[in-house]
Amino acid sequence: MTTEVPSILNWLDDERLACPRANLLAVFDDRSHTLQSTPDELILMKSRGMVDWYETSFAADPPRRVLEIGIFKGGSVVLFSELWRPERLVAVDIAVEPVPALAEYIRRCDLAESVRPVFGIDQADAAAMRSVISSELGAAPLDLVVDDGCHFYEETRAAFETVFPFLRHGGIYVIEDWGWAHWPGAWQDNGGPWPDKPAPTLLALELAMLCASRADLVEAVEITPGLIVVRKGVGGTVGADFALSAAYLTAGRVFLEEGFASPLRAGEQAPSRRELEQTILNAERELQRSRATVTELDGVIRALRSSQSWRLTAPLRRLRRALRG
Ligand SMILES: C[S@@+](CC[C@H](N)C(=O)[O-])C[C@H]1O[C@@H](n2cnc3c(N)ncnc32)[C@H](O)[C@@H]1O
Repeated sequence: MTTEVPSILNWLDDERLACPRANLLAVFDDRSHTLQSTPDELILMKSRGMVDWYETSFAADPPRRVLEIGIFKGGSVVLFSELWRPERLVAVDIAVEPVPALAEYIRRCDLAESVRPVFGIDQADAAAMRSVISSELGAAPLDLVVDDGCHFYEETRAAFETVFPFLRHGGIYVIEDWGWAHWPGAWQDNGGPWPDKPAPTLLALELAMLCASRADLVEAVEITPGLIVVRKGVGGTVGADFALSAAYLTAGRVFLEEGFASPLRAGEQAPSRRELEQTILNAERELQRSRATVTELDGVIRALRSSQSWRLTAPLRRLRRALRG
């Protein structure tokens, strides 16, 4: 028998969310960039479905020690603080400017000891990440890591290699919004939103390979359109030198030979839809011209085969003309 845990989140509509100690506006579109957090309402860059996932997934066993990558306008820090009242919630962001509305929430709720935003930290900088973890979290391991930072392959992978060793056995590592290169609609236009950046797709593949190779390290990898959810195994231990590619096995096969890089070179612009259509049109015309040449050549060759030596010169001239093209 499952006991339903009553929700502490009160949705006023599909976007406005009243938590016990703060209000959030959940927006997962361009408005998140123009709207600003205020002490009365902080901006949360998550869909309602994503919020529901966090609420239900951890309702029975709320994480006590959490690391989040990607503070943005403070909404997710407030959400996790409200949902789980963790003993320690450390959040990092590459942005250097603190978020005043988040600072105000922490002050008003007297959470300075437990909710710890740290700015100016690049998730790909292993030394900086380790330093934050050891100074803000000490020696006890993490229950949950949420990477909602830059969403590019190298940085996401680097953060995983750095932070995974600090996760407890059975702990959860979430990578949000990994699937942007595959989402339908406008995400597919012009090479996607970041045409010159590799997407985290191959990290999903590497994590799947790690799960199959080392179930003691990674017990399960769940993939949904918006999330990669990694559950750490209960047996394996890794040190600070944890390297993904050294941890999975491939029976000598090469799976990641290509595809790390974006199809574009650095600085190269993705072609517009119009340019693509024009290129296809030109290719079709070229194909038609080539077909006509082949047909003509075919006729000439037939004529040559069936001709008498004294009639050869005319087809030969035609053949030369056709080859000059
Ligand atoms: C999608 S927003 C985070 C949204 C927030 N978690 C929420 O749900 O409201 C991504 C954030 O990651 C930060 N970011 C981008 N690249 C980063 C990096 N390399 N290291 C750390 N943070 C990064 C950005 O500054 C931005 O604030």
